[in-house]
Amino acid sequence: RDRQIEMRETRVEDGSLDLAKRPRRNRRADWSRRLVRENVLTVDDLIWPIFLIEGEGRREAVSAMPGVERLSVDEAVRGAERAARLGIPALALFPYTDPDLRDPTGSEALNPDNLTCRALRAIKAAVPDLGLVTDVALDPYTSHGHDGLMAGDRILNDATVAVLVRQALTQAEAGADVIAPSDMMDGRIGAIRAGLDDAGRTDVQIMSYAAKYASAFYGPFRDAIGTKKALIGDKKTYQMDPANGDEAIREAELDVAEGADMLMVKPGMPYLDVVRRLKDRFRMPTFAYQVSGEYSMIRAAAQNGWIDGEAAMLESLLAFKRAGADGVLTYFAPEVAERLNASR
Ligand code: PBG
Repeated sequence: RDRQIEMRETRVEDGSLDLAKRPRRNRRADWSRRLVRENVLTVDDLIWPIFLIEGEGRREAVSAMPGVERLSVDEAVRGAERAARLGIPALALFPYTDPDLRDPTGSEALNPDNLTCRALRAIKAAVPDLGLVTDVALDPYTSHGHDGLMAGDRILNDATVAVLVRQALTQAEAGADVIAPSDMMDGRIGAIRAGLDDAGRTDVQIMSYAAKYASAFYGPFRDAIGTKKALIGDKKTYQMDPANGDEAIREAELDVAEGADMLMVKPGMPYLDVVRRLKDRFRMPTFAYQVSGEYSMIRAAAQNGWIDGEAAMLESLLAFKRAGADGVLTYFAPEVAERLNASR
C-alpha cells in the first residue's frame, strides 16, 4: 500500500494522474467512437411533413420557415417521388385551406374531394409504397382556427369526436395509411378505431398525438396553414400544460388502451423527458415531432452564422433517438436524408 501511495505521488508530481479509469480512451479515434456508439440516426427514422396548397405547378415559400414550401398537388407528387428516392418511409400531409372554404364547423374536413384527399389519391397512384400520414383535427378548416366545434367560447369534446371519426374515415377512403389525431379531444382514439373497424378499415394505423402540449413552438406552422390570424384565444383547454409530465403518462395510457398503434410527443426537443418516459413505460413505437418553431430556430441561427446548421440539425435529430424515439417528424427530412445517404 505504501508503495502504491508512493507511486501515485510520484505520478502526480510528474504531472500525470493515477487514474485506472479514463473514459476518454474510448473516444480517442473515429473508429473507436463508431464502435462504442449507442444510437444512430437513419433515413428509416424520418417522417416528412409537407404543406399543401391549391393550384398547379405551385410552390410557395413559407416565410416563417426558410426552406419550406407549400406545394400544389402535382408538386406534392414530385416531393413524394423525391422522398421515395431518398428512402424516407412516410410523408405527413397538412393542407392550407382556402379561407372561403373555412366555416365554424370545419365542414370542408369531410369533403372527399378536399385538398388533402386529392393529394392522397394522387400520391398513392404515383408512389404506392410511400406511407401517408394524415392529421385529424379541424383547425385547417374552421373559421375560428380551433381543432374542434365550438359553443360560445367552449370547445365541445364529444360532438367534435363524432366529426373527427368522419374526418378519419374520409381520409382513409382517400388512401391514408396512418391516421394521426392531433386534436387532443378525450376519447377520440377509441372512437376513430371503432369507426375505422366498422368500415372494414382494420388495416389503417393510428399514430396518436398522445402528449401534445399547448406550445409557443407551433407559431410558424400556424402561419404555414393560415390559421395564425384566424385563431381566437388559445388551445389550453385541450392541449396539455407544458408544466406537466405525469399527465402525459395518463394521456398515453388512455390512447394505448383505446387502440393507438404508435404514440407521439409534440413538440420534440423541449419534451425529450416525456419521450423517454413514454418509451420506458409503454414500449410502444414512439415518435417525436420536431415542430415548426424548433425547425425555424435552427434555420434562423444558421442563417445568421450563429451555429453550424447542418451539425445542429443532425445533433437535434440524434437526440430524439437517444431519448427513446423510434422516429421523428421533421421538416429537415429531405435534407437530412440526402446528407445521410451521401455519407453512407
Ligand atoms: C393542428 C396541428 C398543429 C401542428 C400539427 N397539427 C398546430 C396546432 O396545434 O396549433 C403543429 C406542427 C408544427 O408546429 O410544426 N392540430
